[in-house]
Amino acid sequence: MSSVDTPAYSLTRPKNTPLDPPPLYSRLRDENPITQVTIWDGRHSAWLVTRWEDARAVLGNPAFSSDQSHSGFPSQRPDMPPLAHGFFANYDPPIHTTMRSTLTREFMIKRIGALRPGIASTTTRLLDEMTRSERSADLVERFTLPLPSLVICDLLGVPYEDHEYFQKRSRVFVDAHATGEQFTQAWEELNAYLADLLTAKRGNPGDDVLSRLTEHVDAGTVTERDASDLAVFLLFAGHETTANMLALSTVALLRDPAQIPRLLAGPTEAANAVEELLRYLSIVHGGLRRYALEDVTIGGVTISAGEGVIVPVHVANRDPESFTDPDSLDLGRDNARRHVAFGYGIHQCLGQPLARAELQIALPELFRRLPGLRLAVPFEDIAFKENTFVYGVDELPVVW
Ligand code: HEM
Repeated sequence: MSSVDTPAYSLTRPKNTPLDPPPLYSRLRDENPITQVTIWDGRHSAWLVTRWEDARAVLGNPAFSSDQSHSGFPSQRPDMPPLAHGFFANYDPPIHTTMRSTLTREFMIKRIGALRPGIASTTTRLLDEMTRSERSADLVERFTLPLPSLVICDLLGVPYEDHEYFQKRSRVFVDAHATGEQFTQAWEELNAYLADLLTAKRGNPGDDVLSRLTEHVDAGTVTERDASDLAVFLLFAGHETTANMLALSTVALLRDPAQIPRLLAGPTEAANAVEELLRYLSIVHGGLRRYALEDVTIGGVTISAGEGVIVPVHVANRDPESFTDPDSLDLGRDNARRHVAFGYGIHQCLGQPLARAELQIALPELFRRLPGLRLAVPFEDIAFKENTFVYGVDELPVVW
């Protein structure tokens, strides 16, 4: 393929099928599953790995680095600062291993299980408040954004009153139009905010992740700067992703209401429904970025040392070789859980037990409480996010 033919990696979804990946990528996956794409307005190129099996082969291979300080790393922005200012997911072992070890206990399934009653009561409270005197609302403002924000604040020990401050800055991290400078500014502001909170926790510890992070600093496992960087990452990743997943799941279910009974059939069915929604929607659609440290052959194609790789999990999760009739939402699908919506390998989403708990509680409760829930505007008029690395909607007008 000549450079003239090389397509650009694009976040733009088709207007008529906004819940599907761009058709070009599905075609590439079928015809040319490992191929070059351009990024940074054509100034750089990287391999696009579109099949599910090849995606796992890349993400599970330590020869592919996440460290953005390699010259030629296919980062999301051309002027991304090295290591993207402590963006935890961009570290390689052994630093990554040490940093992740400070948090693994916090996100263990058992620990997250203990949060379920609190998540359920917050869900009930938000739905009570939303429905008390109204029959319509913006579901993003009233439910899908506040719920994960409240939950992550509680877990970390961050005051929810500051939500506008951290939500606004978190949005910069996923905005494809934001410059490296704007990214750095948002990161440093949030870092200073969390560093102050960590200092306050040291004098007055609580039963929260930030207080326990100060213990890791005292034990010398991580530096103070590492701790505040980790805290920024958790605060951001803990609400921005799940909020979009809750809103887009609601859109997908309202478009295909015959599926809703499966979500409401019981905890096992709800858990499977959530896996299928994760697969089908795959909201982290900016492509997971890697850099080859040595020559590696994947799916018959040799990726040379120094070349970049982009793994679009939303395309891999629609691979017909791994999922039957992949473009259909099927809440009863028996292998939905094999999706790579949380990534794969050492960087696989640390917060997935938390995300799953929130989705498994909030989605059935929303549809149980509001059996008449429907979109307040035609599906075609919903404004899907454009140019964000995490897909979603900014607002979701609904009536019930
Ligand atoms: C539906 C919601 C979510 C989705 C779809 C999602 C998706 C992802 C993906 C695809 C990655 C892999 C990045 C890579 O390999 O480069 C990741 C990593 C990560 N996620 Fe999530 N995430 C979600 C919710 C959360 C939540 C609630 C948290 C909790 C704070 C969280 C914390 C993290 C962390 C800390 C990492 C980095 C792990 C590492 O590098 O070792 N995520 N997530």
